[in-house]
Amino acid sequence: QIKGAIFDLDGVITDTARFHTQAWRQIADQVGISWDDALQESLKGIGRMAALELILKHGHLEQNFTQGEKERLATEKNQHYLALVDTLTPADILPGMQALLDDLAQKGYRIALASASKNAPRVLQNLGLTAYFPNVVDPATLTHGKPDPEIFVKAAASIHLPPAACMGFEDAAAGVAGIKAADEVAIGIGDKCELRAADVVFTQTQDVTLPHIQQAMNRRDF
Ligand code: BG6
Ligand code: MG
Repeated sequence: QIKGAIFDLDGVITDTARFHTQAWRQIADQVGISWDDALQESLKGIGRMAALELILKHGHLEQNFTQGEKERLATEKNQHYLALVDTLTPADILPGMQALLDDLAQKGYRIALASASKNAPRVLQNLGLTAYFPNVVDPATLTHGKPDPEIFVKAAASIHLPPAACMGFEDAAAGVAGIKAADEVAIGIGDKCELRAADVVFTQTQDVTLPHIQQAMNRRDF
């Protein structure tokens, strides 16, 4: 029986995926790397330095920067990103997500956050959702990023549940892979093809409700 709900943040609770894209594109333009949709999709769920490496590799420039230069680029990206994040208000919570959090809390589910973002506490604060997430995995404590299961295993431990008693919500293929590798139920939010490894996929956040999740799980005979 499922007793825990583990949430990704960017692209699940709020549409900050577009802010990450906007901020990285500025850096890519600056160093002369072209952008495409596949690159953009591959950055979802991936930590800051790993994402920069993917962008540089995409432009065949991974050898052209020293570690110090890479760190400066990542810091600059983060400054662009934070300027965008500080425009967020509770009105930017994606449709249905606060209702889902309320329903989960009211029914006694334990809730945790498993975001690769070091800015997650600031995003939650701006959205007015800090009180829903007393359990936030600090990505600085991780050895491996998504698609490794580590963050989802730690999130389950933070709410004192075995992974099999948890469901994870994700908009990224790397995140869904991590949830499945952790032996949790994966709820994908986004493109059905991109997230085909998930147990259930919802195209839109407003459809992500406990009754809909239960219906889908019954159909799949969990
Ligand atoms: C994830 C995003 O949630 O956080 C990634 O999906 C991002 O795109 C990663 O790179 C790290 O975020 P931050 O805020 O620590 O740079
Ligand atoms: Mg995400």
